[in-house]
Amino acid sequence: MNLENCHNFHDFRLLAKKRLPSPIFNYIDGAAEDERTYKRNTASFDTVDLVPNVLNGTEEIDMSVEVMGQKLKMPIYCSPTALQRLFHFQGEEGVAEVASQFGTLFGVSSLGTTSLVSLREKYKTPQCYQFYFHKDRGLNRSMMESAKDAGIDVMMLTVDTITGGNRERDLRTGFSIPLKLNPRGVLDFIIKPSWGINFVTKGKFTLPQLDDFVDMSKGSISIGKYFTEMLDHTLNWNDVEEMVKFWDGQFCLKGVMSVEDARKAVDIGCTGIVISNHGGRQLDGSRSPFDQLSEIVDAVGDKIDVLMDSGIQRGTHVIKALSLGAKAVGGGRFYLYALAAAGKNGVRRALNLMQTEIERDMRLMGVKNISELSRSNLRFR
Ligand code: LAC
Repeated sequence: MNLENCHNFHDFRLLAKKRLPSPIFNYIDGAAEDERTYKRNTASFDTVDLVPNVLNGTEEIDMSVEVMGQKLKMPIYCSPTALQRLFHFQGEEGVAEVASQFGTLFGVSSLGTTSLVSLREKYKTPQCYQFYFHKDRGLNRSMMESAKDAGIDVMMLTVDTITGGNRERDLRTGFSIPLKLNPRGVLDFIIKPSWGINFVTKGKFTLPQLDDFVDMSKGSISIGKYFTEMLDHTLNWNDVEEMVKFWDGQFCLKGVMSVEDARKAVDIGCTGIVISNHGGRQLDGSRSPFDQLSEIVDAVGDKIDVLMDSGIQRGTHVIKALSLGAKAVGGGRFYLYALAAAGKNGVRRALNLMQTEIERDMRLMGVKNISELSRSNLRFR
């Protein structure tokens, strides 16, 4: 299998599986506990069917959207994710380059492996900061200041990681940063030599957003440990209200699931929320964002931009979410498997396939632009 044979999410996943050492593949592919929420995230799109209108043909299809003050040429963006250079040496840089070509939003995580400031300087497409709130308030303040100075467009605070999710695949493989492998893990890496050669020869692995504050040389920090030991478990609405004031710009909460919280986000001055369960990686058993979308849109959709992520694999998933009232949707694994499979060429192919699917789906639905999508195009089973 190679990149030309990748026609959808599942193909990229298989190619990523072939290329990556198993602990790294399972870090992307895995989710919390029994992974029920992870599976439901995509399955929930099958509870709704599309009802197209015919004989409304057009040459031009416009799939652009405006969300949190940003103009996106397509309604799906690359959700910020951690540790991208671990998946492919081109990492965040490759994703930023492709997102720019497609005119969509991308983001760098606090746990990103490329400096968000350097990407801001190089690429003009909208950029967000996936921010994790640390116990060290000085660290939070300084991270926000450098992002503000750099002109990051959207602050996206992750609010569903107050503690680490129980990712049992990572417990089994011993996945950690920096990598500390057990003998089985070493074998997994030896049988995928090209990954290892690239990892060793294509620049030092660092976490530029955190490097000045966290000493990674003294031992491995598993992702769970990072969440549990460094992030602030007492984070509350007052802290976030202060952050919103300090940021004084587009501010969005990623990981809101209840109507009550969506209302609070409006009250403290947020301009957006992402309904998300972190791709099923945190609270197994939590509801899927698509199942939860309409009640949140009904409650706050006229006051704040409602976005969603988790489970999106197809253009039709995007069309369904937008028809229910999401302003845009995010995808994580959809471009991460592609990144792991073939670097920026993979990401380009994944975004291109997604764009082609959305365009084809819009034609088949009989709509010329996104604002023509509505709940009248949907029937719940
Ligand atoms: C994860 C974090 C780091 O899901 O976003 O692993």
